[in-house]
Parts: sequence; structure tokens; C-alpha cells
Amino acid sequence: MKKETNIDKELERFDQRLEEMGIRFKDANQFKVREDVFDDVTLLALYKLVHKKWLSVIGGSISTGKEANVFYGEREGAGIAIKIYRIRTANFTTMSSYITGDPRFSHVKKSKKELIFAWTRKEFSNLVRARNAGIAVPEPMVWDRNILIMSFIGEGERPYPQLRNADLNDPSKTYGWILHAIDVLYKKAELVHADLSEFNILYGDQLYFIDMGQSVTRDHPRALPFLMRDIKNINRFFKNRCDIRTDVEIFNDITGRNEAEQ
Ligand SMILES: Nc1ncnc2c1ncn2[C@@H]1O[C@H](COP(=O)(O)OP(=O)(O)OP(=O)(O)O)[C@@H](O)[C@H]1O
Ligand SMILES: [Mg+2]
Repeated sequence: MKKETNIDKELERFDQRLEEMGIRFKDANQFKVREDVFDDVTLLALYKLVHKKWLSVIGGSISTGKEANVFYGEREGAGIAIKIYRIRTANFTTMSSYITGDPRFSHVKKSKKELIFAWTRKEFSNLVRARNAGIAVPEPMVWDRNILIMSFIGEGERPYPQLRNADLNDPSKTYGWILHAIDVLYKKAELVHADLSEFNILYGDQLYFIDMGQSVTRDHPRALPFLMRDIKNINRFFKNRCDIRTDVEIFNDITGRNEAEQ
């Protein structure tokens, strides 16, 4: 009981603190966002991160996705992105299929919360792996429960546009870069992005892959179909923009397999 009371008090203080920190809710339905995103678990995790000085300002909402909300934030004056997986509304059936095949996370208990925390940790470690292989991705800084903090990819408080909204001055070059990044991700980081599309690539001073929570290791049973899907998505986007290679040709090149054209 005593512990609960302390947490309640702490949350009350945190609420005040959020106000002091100038948290702004730019979403139309701010009360819903607050309820869906900032439940007690999340507030406590945020509070800890603030306390450990991982962030000093929580700014406006950048995105409300299927499973997560992304906010702009600041740490020591530098921009950060705060990605918060929603414990209430996340889609667990899909999530668990990505986690179960991954040996790194095979021990994860299947409760809803556990799964979300594992997912957050998985995105963090995928970003580390990708970055270590030299792929341009946001720099992962810290995670706690359902919150991931990473470097902010953008200018001021505005994220760079997603590839689908970018003005491509040399589509062929961009296409080549993306294929190369998929190849390095597979060969060096031994990962398949598994949700690659014009939505999850930011286009600014250079290209960045983002959103790697669902990325899987090469030994995941569905790694190859995921890789093929990524390739198809990229080819679909570029087919009216520049000359493209066939799906199978790219797939064989990356995997060293010899699948026949269909
Ligand atoms: N590190 C970052 N820097 C700047 N903006 C970011 C960063 N990470 C995410 N964003 C912004 O938030 C948007 C959504 O991010 P992301 O794709 O990671 O989540 P999501 O698609 O909502 O995830 P999910 O579909 O799993 O819920 C991006 O398109 C981008 O505009
Ligand atoms: Mg996304």
C-alpha cells in the first residue's frame, strides 16, 4: 500500500512537472492522446528518464502511428525524438509474430506489457546494430520500458520529410543508395528491416532508415519473405521514377540465392 501511495504522489508531482516542462499536446483529441499514451507506466518511465537527465523538454507531437507516438524533445538543448509505444492500443498479435521467431527475444513472456517492453528494446538494439554496420539511422540513446529516445533527424523541430513526400532530384541515385543500404543491413548487420517503404525512410541531408521495431535477424524464419517484401515496396515506389532492377535479381544479389523469376 505504502508503495502505491508513493507512486501516486510521485505521479502527481510528475504531472506538475510536465506542465512546468511545457509539454504541449498538438493533437486534436488531446485528452485521448493523454489517456492512450501517458498511462501510469509511461509517466513513471518518463519521469525516470527526466530524472536521469536523458531529456529536459517534451515538445510537440510529431506522429501518431499504429503502435507508437513520436514526440519532439530536447536534451541539453539538442533535439531528440521520443518514441512511446502505446501500451493500451498497440497491436499485439502482429508484434508477437515478429518477436517469437527472434532468438534474441525467445525468452520474453507473452504478457501485453512484457511484449511492448521487449519491442522497445528490440527497436533499440536493431538501431544499434544498423548503426554499427554503418547504416544511417537515428542514434539510439536510451530506452526504458515502452519509451525509446534517439537523436532527432530533421531541422529545428521539423523532421525531415518521409521519402514519399520528398523532392527527389536524382531518383536513380536515391534508389541505388537504398538498395545498397538494404544489402549492408542484410550482410553486415544481419538484419532485415521488414517494414521498409517510402514511409520509413527520411530524406534530408542524406537518407535515413527509421522505424526498426519489427526488423528481424537473418535467422528469423520469415526473414527472406520480409526481405522480398521490402524490395518489392522499394521497386513499387521507384518504378515510375527511374529504371529499376527486378525484385528477384536484387533478392538473389543480396542473399546469394538463385531464385528463378516468376
Ligand atoms: N529519430 C527521429 N527523428 C525525427 N523524426 C522521427 C524520428 N523517428 C520518427 N520520426 C517521425 O515520426 C514518424 C513515425 O515514426 P516511426 O515510423 O518510427 O513510427 P510509426 O510508423 O508510428 O511506428 P508504428 O507504425 O510501428 O506505430 C516518422 O515518419 C517521422 O516523421
Ligand atoms: Mg513508420
